[in-house]
Amino acid sequence: MRVLGIESSCDETAVAIVNERRERIAELVLSQLKEHRPFGGIVPEIAARSHLNQLDRLIVQALAEAGLAPKDLDAIAATAGPGLIGGVLVGVTMAKAMALALNRPFLAINHLEGHALSARLDPGVEFPYLLLLVSGGHCQLLRVEAVGRYRRLGTTVDDAAGEAFDKAAKMLGLGYPGGPAIEQAASRAAAAGTDPKGYGLPRPMLGRPGCDFSFSGLKTALRQRIQELTGGGTLPERERDGLALAFQETIAAVLADRTSHALEMGAGGNRDLTALVVAGGVAANRRIRQALDQVARAKGLTLVAPPAALCTDNAAMIAWAGIERLRAAAPGSTQGSAQGDGLDFAARPRWPLDPTAPRAAGAGVKA
Ligand code: KG4
Ligand code: ZN
Repeated sequence: MRVLGIESSCDETAVAIVNERRERIAELVLSQLKEHRPFGGIVPEIAARSHLNQLDRLIVQALAEAGLAPKDLDAIAATAGPGLIGGVLVGVTMAKAMALALNRPFLAINHLEGHALSARLDPGVEFPYLLLLVSGGHCQLLRVEAVGRYRRLGTTVDDAAGEAFDKAAKMLGLGYPGGPAIEQAASRAAAAGTDPKGYGLPRPMLGRPGCDFSFSGLKTALRQRIQELTGGGTLPERERDGLALAFQETIAAVLADRTSHALEMGAGGNRDLTALVVAGGVAANRRIRQALDQVARAKGLTLVAPPAALCTDNAAMIAWAGIERLRAAAPGSTQGSAQGDGLDFAARPRWPLDPTAPRAAGAGVKA
């Protein structure tokens, strides 16, 4: 079985062909970073137009690299939400048109399900596992039980972790995307022997019951420290790097604390888990991985992270989620039948993986 996957929900146009044996036969990711950089963040209209300009070319290229004709594909899977709706519509419309022309199933994939199952594509973990999904748009702890069965244990009440990194980097004048820039600045400060505690940043939600996240208070505190240290002038580089270190340490501590709580939650304290999995762009951060590794070990588990190319947004995870769904035809699955989804399936800007999850304690909860 070979499935074509399309991902266009954010600022990467991605196409991949994956087979049942977990082989990624073709894998293309086109970043729009350069188009958005002048604006210091993602501009949805620019993103949608760029997906439209690039997608058909990428599909032709993926088929050529795989040495396949369109009729060799067994199904067409596309991210159908959650995400920036203009971009999602581009991918979904393309997938539907191909499915109709080729007479193959169309699979409307939840982007979060793609992330949730990516560790089964590589390295290949077994159910059930705990997933910490940390990216620019998502910050959630999910118990992944089976295909189509996800229990959300915690989510953010305001910003996602990656979003917090990006906003902090902007405030510190470190550019976009913020995560890698903050990690570099933090390494410089650590090498210079800076004590991150000296900056007195608060550690939101630390030790609180449950495992929800909140990062907006931290952002406000960072803004105040910057103002204090700037004193009307510019922020000295040493202070800028020190603040980046303090910020990264705080996020690592909060993620570790919340994940540790999640591992203790639920009937039986989640003792049946096969692994702790971390995915999403923020999973690339070495300090965060180190903190999570300690949490996993303390609970007798191993920390598993898919390779970087499968952590950040990609289409292989979308194709793979399609394969998992076709294989499972899961009883009780929340996501349509093994025959695929109808061509009238409407793209969804919001699409929680666990619609039964209680709202997080706080304001506007992200899906
Ligand atoms: O998964 P991803 O590529 O796209 C989304 O679905 O959002 O994640 C991008 C996010 C950005 O916010 C970026 O700043 C963050 O991941 N990120 C990092 C690192 N590399 C990327 N955050 C912290 N440390 C990093 N090394
Ligand atoms: Zn994502």
